[in-house]
Amino acid sequence: MNQVRRNRRLRTTAAIRAIVREHSITPQDFLVPLFVVEGTAIQQEIPSMPGYYRYSLDLLTKEVKELWTMGLRSVLLFVKVPDALKDNKGTEALNPDGLMQRAIQTVKEAVPEMLVMTDVALDPYSSYGHDGIVENGYIVNDPTCEVLAQMSLSHAQAGADFVAPSDMMDGRILAIRSLLENENYKNTGIMSYSAKYASGFYGPFRDALDSAPGFGDKKTYQMDYCNREEAIKETLMDIDEGADIVMVKPGLAYLDIVRDVKDAVDVPVAVYQVSGEYAMLKAAAANGWLDHDTIMMEQLLAFKRAGAQLIASYFAKDVVRVLNS
Ligand code: PBG
Repeated sequence: MNQVRRNRRLRTTAAIRAIVREHSITPQDFLVPLFVVEGTAIQQEIPSMPGYYRYSLDLLTKEVKELWTMGLRSVLLFVKVPDALKDNKGTEALNPDGLMQRAIQTVKEAVPEMLVMTDVALDPYSSYGHDGIVENGYIVNDPTCEVLAQMSLSHAQAGADFVAPSDMMDGRILAIRSLLENENYKNTGIMSYSAKYASGFYGPFRDALDSAPGFGDKKTYQMDYCNREEAIKETLMDIDEGADIVMVKPGLAYLDIVRDVKDAVDVPVAVYQVSGEYAMLKAAAANGWLDHDTIMMEQLLAFKRAGAQLIASYFAKDVVRVLNS
């Protein structure tokens, strides 16, 4: 049997497979989420995220130096705020000496070249655990945007390179961009969580920050997962308002959205492989049901193939270990 075209010729050896490979994973692809707590010498494992920790500032220094040595170049900071400092308006978020502001400075002192992105949302600071100010049981949009803009400015003043609003209020990108421009933070970037769905996959993260909503859910601001075209509307609006990088979140169940967004925009696309995705694989691997590293790499490559250029993932250090082995 003579065949002119045989696809398997390109799969014959590891070397030919490698040279025709369309996509790959490198340490530079990753944004490493970091959870920060008050105190000293604290490295607390998050129960629903085995192998992932909250760090106090002293150990944060050590951690970011290690990340840098491993070739990881970007971090995304989250803080766990003590209950006593939470209120409806997220007042503590604007404290120039707050935990986030000190965390930014800590990372920049430890590794000045590290790209520092910060989470901008009220939920860790909110007594209601919501991403905005609550009035009569409703999360009000415009007053929340004003706080988010002030919060972003405060992060920029503390030294953040990028702010990453994860709240899904309407118009917050424009509010943030305008204030940063007016205050002469013209090079502070915005990575917008532009297509962020109301998802059950965020559960372990809310454990990590003790930020679960005190009442109701987030469906009046985060997107309905039954919708696909709406993701393009959200994303294009954020770009018009000044987003430098856009994001789809969660990742695993939303690869169609990643590809749609990639095809629709001319800015870099990020994907967030969220806490529930991490927890699922850790649990399956701990039971011996799936091979951890095999599934991890297959899943992460799928994000690249779908069109994501940046990946926020709790697996970043595991990936470097695999790449170096
Ligand atoms: C909140 C925020 C959430 C995540 C990032 N920022 C949770 C939520 O929207 O309730 C989730 C990240 C994860 O699950 O890994 N602004």
